[in-house]
Amino acid sequence: MSLETDFVVIGSGVAGLRASIALAASGANVTVLTKDKASESNTEYAQGGVAVVLSDDDNAELHEEDTLVAGAGLCDPEAVETLVTDGTKYIKELIDWGIEFDREGGKLSFTQEAAHSRRRILHAHGDSTGKEIVRSLIARAGREKRINLLPFANTESLIVEGGRCTGVRFLDPILRAPRSISAKAVILCTGGAGQLYQHTTNPSVATGDGMAMAYFAGAEMADMEFVQFHPTALSLEGAPRFLLSEAMRGEGGVLRNVKGERFMGRYDERLEMAPRDIVSRSIVAEMRRTGSRNVFLDMTAINGEFLKERFPKIYETCMFYGLDITADLLPVSPASHYCMGGVRTDLHGRSTVPGLYAAGEVSCTGVHGANRLASNSLLEGLVFGARAGEAAVVDRSVPEWPAGVSNRRDVPLPDAIAAGSHDISTAVRKRVKRVMWERVGILRDGESLRRAITEFDHIASAHLSTSSRKFVTLATLVAKAALWREESRGAHFRTDFPEPVEAWRVHSVQKRDGSIFPAGRIDPDSASDATPTRSLQKPARQ
Ligand code: FAD
Ligand code: SIN
Repeated sequence: MSLETDFVVIGSGVAGLRASIALAASGANVTVLTKDKASESNTEYAQGGVAVVLSDDDNAELHEEDTLVAGAGLCDPEAVETLVTDGTKYIKELIDWGIEFDREGGKLSFTQEAAHSRRRILHAHGDSTGKEIVRSLIARAGREKRINLLPFANTESLIVEGGRCTGVRFLDPILRAPRSISAKAVILCTGGAGQLYQHTTNPSVATGDGMAMAYFAGAEMADMEFVQFHPTALSLEGAPRFLLSEAMRGEGGVLRNVKGERFMGRYDERLEMAPRDIVSRSIVAEMRRTGSRNVFLDMTAINGEFLKERFPKIYETCMFYGLDITADLLPVSPASHYCMGGVRTDLHGRSTVPGLYAAGEVSCTGVHGANRLASNSLLEGLVFGARAGEAAVVDRSVPEWPAGVSNRRDVPLPDAIAAGSHDISTAVRKRVKRVMWERVGILRDGESLRRAITEFDHIASAHLSTSSRKFVTLATLVAKAALWREESRGAHFRTDFPEPVEAWRVHSVQKRDGSIFPAGRIDPDSASDATPTRSLQKPARQ
């Protein structure tokens, strides 16, 4: 039997929870489908904090400027302005709802992270900011009787009828059977795809399902080549790639190579506080130069009691693996961390498929450009989750989809996507992750990317489960966009095109027909994106 609700939200991280609250505030019924237990998400593991303009020596222009600089010329200024100005409003609201950010003498306490010109990062319980955000949003959502949260409800695909997204197919956790639910709109908040890579800071739910589902439903995907690698994931045989927060460098931690030398001076005058794409590449260069598998994060010059109090979760986790952060050098190397690209949206979360919205890491609003500024993504989830929810409510009362984002056409789901198992097979997962790490990783070139695409085509030609197909399709989208962009910018580094090129200061957009083309941001006021669609059309080189 098919179910019905007003709105479906997929995912219960910061974006999904905030979107649900916005939807319920309109009096609508909201069904939240989430793949695992409600708290399991990238949000839950966020450590460093959330960037926001609230301290006395800060202002919106400074935060915007830092975001634009980190984004390496590819941020949309309007999106950045929205993030920063609405960000302050939504964080204040979160404080009103009872979130416990850390304070000193009653005043909010701010930390520093790379590429921020001010101490503007709020944190909670030292290094458990994400956990506290999830706790407070789940508590707030729990007070809304109209929100029905279904854990362990893996969404398999989106239903598109007459060119409009009208619902989803998911695995009913109680019946243990596939089921459909129809709605006036679907808000995708499924997070990122760090799991595409062999080494990642992301939990196992971060397989990019929402991106693949949106792509199969006909939504345009933007900037898929931009994947952020965090410089300092724990690099210890037998241990997970546990994140050692950038805030540790913000509080004075330094990086040393295996010879004990502080090396960042060789690569960037901002040293350990350079943007994280630069720090990650510097670490790779240093590992190659010294023939080692890791470098070290050194916190030993900092007061031990301060470290234990400031980073309690990191202290406890490292102790579990026999490392004392106050006394030992901590082995680290980069790991995939965040997707700047995703489902292409306007500033209200509208995708190019009517009835389908996206917010948070699954989306590409243009906020992050080619490289996300540290601690801007929790803020993005909060701001654009709320905005997407609010827009879906407003659009519901509009008989026609607003001009400018319409892409009306029937997009039949391929049979292989319409039904099937929800597990990514171990063999496919392992193979794809390895190829992504080795050939579509921190350093790429045309040859490595072409070989990756050939390998993915080969994997895709086999009979695959629904989830395996989504996984390999997503990997292909990243590799194809990376091959298409013949320059280096932000987190995308091509060793065969090592410089940024002005003509490439465009977003990549991929469509279901296999085309990839350059574009600016979706303009909600224009009838359609002016850029013509042509397979592999490239900007003229200068
Ligand atoms: P998520 O929080 O990832 O939520 C996605 C949700 O979708 C989950 O509930 C998941 O189960 C669900 N889902 C996925 N697929 C399906 C499916 N098929 N069906 C149903 N449900 C599904 N950012 C910062 O700003 N500051 C930080 O300090 C910071 N630290 C980080 C530390 C770590 C270790 C990691 C991994 C990330 C960190 N980030 C940080 C990034 C940030 O946490 C994420 O970008 C952000 O939380 C994403 O929020 P989201 O709501 O978009 O997605
Ligand atoms: C960190 O704490 O280093 C992660 C911050 C982020 O990803 O924004």
